[in-house]
Amino acid sequence: MAATIRRIAVNTGGGDAPGLNAVIRAVALAGARRGWEVFGIRHGYLGLFQEDGLIRLDVDRVEGITNTGGTILGANNRGNPFRLVTEQGVIEDGSARLVDRFSELGFDALIAIGGDGSLSIVKQLYDRYQFPVVGVPKTIDNDLDATEYTFGFDTAVSTATDALDKLQPTAQSHDRVMVVEVMGRYAGWIGLHAGIAGAADVILLPEIPFSMEAVSQKIMEREAGGRHYSIVVVAEGAAPLGGQVLGKEQETGRNVLLGGIAEQVAAGITAHTGKETRHLVLGHLQRGGQPTAFDRLLSLRFGAAAVRLIAAGDFGKMVALTDHGIRAVSLEEATNRMRRVPLDSDVLQTARDLGICLGD
Ligand code: F6P
Repeated sequence: MAATIRRIAVNTGGGDAPGLNAVIRAVALAGARRGWEVFGIRHGYLGLFQEDGLIRLDVDRVEGITNTGGTILGANNRGNPFRLVTEQGVIEDGSARLVDRFSELGFDALIAIGGDGSLSIVKQLYDRYQFPVVGVPKTIDNDLDATEYTFGFDTAVSTATDALDKLQPTAQSHDRVMVVEVMGRYAGWIGLHAGIAGAADVILLPEIPFSMEAVSQKIMEREAGGRHYSIVVVAEGAAPLGGQVLGKEQETGRNVLLGGIAEQVAAGITAHTGKETRHLVLGHLQRGGQPTAFDRLLSLRFGAAAVRLIAAGDFGKMVALTDHGIRAVSLEEATNRMRRVPLDSDVLQTARDLGICLGD
């Protein structure tokens, strides 16, 4: 049933991803065409409670932002309204306050752009309060099960592939092994896609616990074949057989900050092979930069589709990309499973057929 909509809000939750601004622009333009007032909430939900926390997203305000990185609304991965941390370090539930404030400000619906964490928040808001919300999937990690692709992933893969292209000649010149750590907390999509496209010799993913023996054997085989350099890609969430994912704790309410596996793998390679090895962490470079044409188009399609759902009063859904185009899935379906690399996927098989070592 179509809803009566006059004023909507859009926010971006969690880490940024290239394409966020394109979604925001599509929401603003598609909303304006329907005669709605569109506002952006700054810094997740925080802006609802701040003096200058709302930005009127009229047509002029979103001009020229489709191809820009970051988010004009600012990002925030600390603002879970169900688990607000007070100055005394106590966790409290601020969700009812948020819902009240939202209607006090005259909003009829929210478009929430986010990854698994932000979408779980949105699901709780919908389940508990029937909050009028539509989700848009975002994460460079591409680990949301209900959508083929999240925006930001393609750009991250491009950035990582470009880095591998640049590392190859220096590795070759010095007869070295280069170990490159890419993002991918629970799923190895970035490592797998960039590793294949960038002609890596070894790719280590969270889905396949690796052995240093297998990795070193691959490097020594290349040595024996006269190729005295190798490129190893390792996802931040990868771990050795029987070992732990590496990272450090952050303050309450935040994910462990992953990192350190490239250094560990590099040390292991030197110990096993005697080869000179260097490591580097691509880190947030993968979240920055201009979105690729694929990500821009996907973001614009997601933003426009989210507005259509709101116009139809179809709340509690997330827009998703499938073989048949954009469709709406329930927030339940959107958040109940991670999308990890299937061990029988053709891309993984491609890596094996190319002789890439996956550490097993
Ligand atoms: O957006 C997902 C992600 O890039 C993960 O791959 C990574 O572990 C995490 O974000 C890092 O986030 P931040 O440094 O912003 O806390």
